[in-house]
Amino acid sequence: MIDWTDRHCRRFHRAITQHTWLYTEMITTGALVFGDRKRFLAFNEEEHPVAFQIGGSDPEHMARCAKWIEEAGYDELNMNVGCPSERVQKGAFGACLMAEPDLVADCVKAMRDACSLDVTVKHRIGLDYDESETMLYDFVGKVSEAGCNTFIVHARNAVLKGLSPKENREIPPLRYEVVKRLKQNFPHIQIILNGGITTLDAIEDHLTWADGCMIGREAYSNPWLLAGFDEIIGKPATVKTRLDVIEELRAYAEQELTNGESIRSITKSWLGLFHGQPGGRLYRQVLSDSTLLKANNWQVVEDALAKMFKHAPVV
Ligand SMILES: Cc1cc2nc3c(=O)[nH]c(=O)nc-3n(C[C@H](O)[C@H](O)[C@H](O)COP(=O)(O)O)c2cc1C
Repeated sequence: MIDWTDRHCRRFHRAITQHTWLYTEMITTGALVFGDRKRFLAFNEEEHPVAFQIGGSDPEHMARCAKWIEEAGYDELNMNVGCPSERVQKGAFGACLMAEPDLVADCVKAMRDACSLDVTVKHRIGLDYDESETMLYDFVGKVSEAGCNTFIVHARNAVLKGLSPKENREIPPLRYEVVKRLKQNFPHIQIILNGGITTLDAIEDHLTWADGCMIGREAYSNPWLLAGFDEIIGKPATVKTRLDVIEELRAYAEQELTNGESIRSITKSWLGLFHGQPGGRLYRQVLSDSTLLKANNWQVVEDALAKMFKHAPVV
């Protein structure tokens, strides 16, 4: 998620769940071809398994980027066909590409030819107010023939004109049954469900028919939810407390501070860690206090914990 799942956030999530796949923010081909490629490709070794999400629609650029992404050491290459923002539409990529399955297939083929990573696609179930499933089946059919075996499906239409990206994550109704039918029609293809999933019970329920679930916003508003993921997928549960997570990340944070990163960016994803816990609001308040963050050191984390414990001594 743009502005959220940067490498600090992913390092934090990895301290909570050992086996869940993590995804980068969408990075455009333009950023890799013309920008500071090294910075955009950077990740921490601890993040594995980690997927890089690319935004673009020029097969030649996609192929060049695929090579760099593989060389950087990522485990999966995911193409964004779900973002509805005006800016992205002007660049002719994101959700508007659902109407151009042949072009997406060309991009997938170009990336597959250029690297040996699994190429996956994240998309919507339709465009605007069209509720027929014809476009979806045509899209998945053509793109899977080009070599994509995993589709991450945000179970909403994308409305390209008149709704902001935020509204596009809230107003078009969630229609899980459409994704379920998609899986029934393409049983040999991995279908990962996304959209509105906020509890472990819901995940377990969806996993009775879907091949996986992708969690977006809940991962930053309530990151401790991730502590239950390993067990759900049949891996040993990670028996850690929230405090263990912070303790584990202390050395990481201090190293990153030495490298010139700010404490604000390192700990931004930690704000929701005590969500719903006694004193959690105080912890969040201190950790987002601009004055305290200015000192740019670990002390603000200690202060946040101290304030929380003073008012609610048990975690
Ligand atoms: C701030 C923000 C940034 C996002 N950035 C991306 C992105 O870079 N790539 C992407 O595929 N989806 C992005 N999304 C969409 C989410 O991945 C997800 O599809 C959507 O929020 C629905 O899932 P959820 O209900 O679990 O949040 C973003 C969502 C938010 C709230």
